[in-house]
Amino acid sequence: MKRVGILTSGGDCQGLNAAIRAVAKALYEALGDDVEIYGIKNGYGGLIYGDYQKMKKNNFSGILTIGGTILGTSRQPFKQMRVIDEKNGIDKVKAMKENYKKMGLDCLVVLGGNGTHKSANMLSQEGLNVVSLPKTIDNDIYGTEMTFGFQSACDIATEVIDCIHSTATSHRRVFIVEVMGHKVGWLNLHAGIAGGADVILIPEIPYDVEKVAEVITRREAQGKGFTIIAAAEGAISKEEAAMKKKEFKAHRASLGYPSVAYKLADDLREQTHYEIRVAVPGHFQRGGSPCAYDRVLCTRLGAAAAKLILEENYGNMVAVQSGMIVPVPLSVVAGKLKTVPVDGELVRSARDIGISFGD
Ligand code: F6P
Repeated sequence: MKRVGILTSGGDCQGLNAAIRAVAKALYEALGDDVEIYGIKNGYGGLIYGDYQKMKKNNFSGILTIGGTILGTSRQPFKQMRVIDEKNGIDKVKAMKENYKKMGLDCLVVLGGNGTHKSANMLSQEGLNVVSLPKTIDNDIYGTEMTFGFQSACDIATEVIDCIHSTATSHRRVFIVEVMGHKVGWLNLHAGIAGGADVILIPEIPYDVEKVAEVITRREAQGKGFTIIAAAEGAISKEEAAMKKKEFKAHRASLGYPSVAYKLADDLREQTHYEIRVAVPGHFQRGGSPCAYDRVLCTRLGAAAAKLILEENYGNMVAVQSGMIVPVPLSVVAGKLKTVPVDGELVRSARDIGISFGD
C-alpha cells in the first residue's frame, strides 16, 4: 500500500485541480486499490495543524476545468517556518513531520511556487519524501521553462489589453494596464507582446518616465492618438531602482498610491496633455478555467510526478526543459528566481518591432 499526501500552497492559479487530478489518476491507474491519497487542507497550514482527509477516487473526477484548488491554499512564509507558533505552542516543522508520520505517508506531493519550494526543500532535507509540481502565473520558478497557470493568466491579461485597445482608440487616450508580477515581468512581457502594447514595463528593466512620455508624444506626431502601456505590478523607475529596499518601500508608502500604475499615470500627466486611465485586472488573472495548454501541461506534470513516486525517486520537482518533462532536485530549485533576461531573445524581438521598455 502506498500512501500519498497532496497539498497546494501559495497564491492559487489555474490548473491546480487539473494537476491534482493527473497525479491521483496516474497513481490509481498504476496501483488500483493499493494507493491511499490524503488531501491536506489549505497548504502547509493543514500539514502543521493536522487538517487533512482521506480522499476518495471520485473526489478527483470532474475537476479538470475547475479553477482554484479543491484542497484550499494559504501562504505560509518560509521565513516563519522555523518560528514557533507561540499562540498554539506549535513547532511547525516538528508538527509537519509528525502529521506526515500520523498519515503513514510514503510521499508528500506539493504544488506551489517559489516560497513553497523553499519549504518543500526544507522538508526533504528533514527526511520527508517530497515530490513537487511548479505552479504560478508568474513563471518565475528556477529550473523549469514553464509553470502551470502562466499561459491561462497570460490569456486573460492579453484579453484585457485587447479590450482596452478598442476603448483607447475610440477615446484617443493613454491606458496603463497593470499586469500581475511583483518580482518578475514574464507575464507582463508575454501579455504585452500578445496584446500589442506600445510600452512594456517590467521589474527587470527600470524605466525612465520621460522615455515613456516620449513614446506617447511620438505616437501623437505619427497620428496615432492612443498609447497602451503594459506595466508589471513590480515595474520600477530608474530613481527607485537606485534606492535601498527599505528606502524604496518607505518612498512608495509615502506617495500613497494603491499600486505603480497610478503613480505612473500621475507622473505622465505632468509630462503630457493626454487623458490617462488605469486598468488593473488584479486577481482576475488567477481565476477561472485553465486554458488548453495548461490542462495538457498539468496532465504531463501530474503523470510525471506519479511516476517519480512509483519509482521512489523523491526530492525532485517535475519541470519542463527543452520541451520535455524532467525531474530537477529541490535543492537546485529552492531559493532561486527565474527572471526575464534583459537582453534575451524575447526582449530583443519586442524592441525590434518598436516596443519601448521605457529605458
Ligand atoms: O505569485 C502570484 C501572484 O499573483 C503575483 O503575481 C502577485 O504579485 C501576487 O501573487 C499577489 O498575491 P496575493 O494573492 O497574496 O495578493
